Amino acid sequence: MCGIVGYMGDQPAYPILINGLHRLEYRGYDSAGVALLDDAGLHVHKCQGKVSDLERHVAGLGLGGTVGMGHTRWATHGSPNDINAHPHVSSDGDIALIHNGIIENYAAIKEELAHRGHTFRSDTDTEVLVQLIADIRRSEGVDLPEAVRLALDSVVGAYAIVVLDQRDPNVMVAARKSSPLVIGIGENGEHFIASDATPIVEHTKNVVYLEDGEIAVIERGKGLKIRNIKNQEKTPFIQELEMHLEALEKSGYDHFMLKEIHEQPRSIRDSLRGRLNLAKGEVMLGGIKDYEQKFIRAERILIVGCGTSWHAGLVGEYLFEELARIPVEVEYASEFRYRDPIVHEDDIVIAISQSGETADTLAAIELAKGRGATIIGICNVVGSSIARITHAGSYTHAGPEIGVASTKAFTAQVTLLTLMALMIGHKRGTISGSRFFRLLNELDAIPGKVEKVLRNEAQIRYIADIYKDATNALYLGRGFSFPVALEGALKLKEISYIHAEGYPAAEMKHGPIALIDEEMPVFVIATKGGSYEKVVSNIQEVKARKGKVIAICTEGDRVVRDLADHVIEIPETPDPLVPLLSVIPLQLISYHIAVMRGCNVDQPRNLAKSVTVE
Ligand code: AGP
Repeated sequence: MCGIVGYMGDQPAYPILINGLHRLEYRGYDSAGVALLDDAGLHVHKCQGKVSDLERHVAGLGLGGTVGMGHTRWATHGSPNDINAHPHVSSDGDIALIHNGIIENYAAIKEELAHRGHTFRSDTDTEVLVQLIADIRRSEGVDLPEAVRLALDSVVGAYAIVVLDQRDPNVMVAARKSSPLVIGIGENGEHFIASDATPIVEHTKNVVYLEDGEIAVIERGKGLKIRNIKNQEKTPFIQELEMHLEALEKSGYDHFMLKEIHEQPRSIRDSLRGRLNLAKGEVMLGGIKDYEQKFIRAERILIVGCGTSWHAGLVGEYLFEELARIPVEVEYASEFRYRDPIVHEDDIVIAISQSGETADTLAAIELAKGRGATIIGICNVVGSSIARITHAGSYTHAGPEIGVASTKAFTAQVTLLTLMALMIGHKRGTISGSRFFRLLNELDAIPGKVEKVLRNEAQIRYIADIYKDATNALYLGRGFSFPVALEGALKLKEISYIHAEGYPAAEMKHGPIALIDEEMPVFVIATKGGSYEKVVSNIQEVKARKGKVIAICTEGDRVVRDLADHVIEIPETPDPLVPLLSVIPLQLISYHIAVMRGCNVDQPRNLAKSVTVE
């Protein structure tokens, strides 16, 4: 996610801003920039790359000014480059703005502003916002805080922003909706702004957390005022920070992996944002619009990926075959690239990759592309190598995934695949309108249901403590839950070093059942729907051999509750959406077992976050 810092006080702003940006590097980013105000006006410096690149970029310029702001960008609209980096400046050069979030209706606003003569340098939604503020400031003849308020009143989406105007050098405006923003109250009228408390805590422990829809106005000599979008003033509630720096980087969680597991309601919501329109009953995937007809007419879909991304692809197989009735083949990228595969020009190839840099997946794409197929990417890193070589694609908006074990990227990938399968199925007429609308509504409800599943964590930790010393584990699932069984096994293997295997539940009797004994924990995804009764039989087969069964089941299911040794209940949801919920307990079980075993959860041995070599 992007990082934001701001300062107004009597110290030189630049050192405070740069140090603050370094404190936010853990959030992941691809470019950085600062804006400073001094007697000569507004100075903006920004570049693709790291904060250290920015420091080299401005070295020797002697940046002055005691008010300014800084930004680290995690690209969501427009590739990482100098022009798309923040801060963005209005055409008249007076106003600078930094932003964390997604402006969903930026295209419509941009079109309106272009009609009014505005021109744009970047591909970002952020530049549209700063131009809108400048346009309102001039056309309405209002001050900066009022121009910001009026602009935000017409914005749809998520934002945390800081705005400066060289005509009002003693005013700094900040606002938030869905993206966090913290204000630090220092000594002698100093004020700090940041995406989280990490850059602030070394200066002051007194903070104000902005609430959604609030606008903060910091004026030199007059302090902090807060108002909402309706212009109603609110007294700032000052709290004292207790957390120490290192914990803050993980937002108070012990590990990035746990933080990212808990981020999934937001990351799934962000991956749906602007793409799922319940009012109109439609799915909008702008990134593949140009290839929609090819997709609709496709007679085959190939899905390539590695590891967790391959598991997401396997969910995609079940989704496209059930909802769009298009045959799907899911290929390990490493196998696909070396076996001289048959690829047709009318094939659609979906390449899935969190990092967008996995060597085997890149090679598989090049091979399929060379044989004339259309390549659709699902990546989490804007402007990554895979994102650049595919014909089209949709970004997951999971935000940077720091933990090596992929969690929120998986559910974001499955979210995108679900949107694609629903859209293509609806357009092909292979699902009824009523089922389409019902699944759209159920998909929209998933973030709330993930929140509910996460509330089972204490019980999951209790189960993890029982099985933390296991040497083997089996994961079983059928249908949409079979790929989740594979993913659950991978999670346990890669962070706790316990051997684990995922299997189609019915396959157990073709071999793995020989492994079952009282030492073997068997995780079974046994939610209502699909082949539920068959899975219940599989649980009985395991119990008959004294195996220990930990079942993921539908809320209120007494049959499974009476059969299994432990149950983790998840809310009812249609089969195609179960993976988005059933994977959460498996992520948490793996995490807690690994922690109890003293493993390095965020950087497991022998693993890298992105396998950029063969
Ligand atoms: C999953 O937890 C692992 N980190 C690994 O399997 C990963 O999914 C795989 O290397 C693919 O990475 P990518 O999604 O960045 O291409």
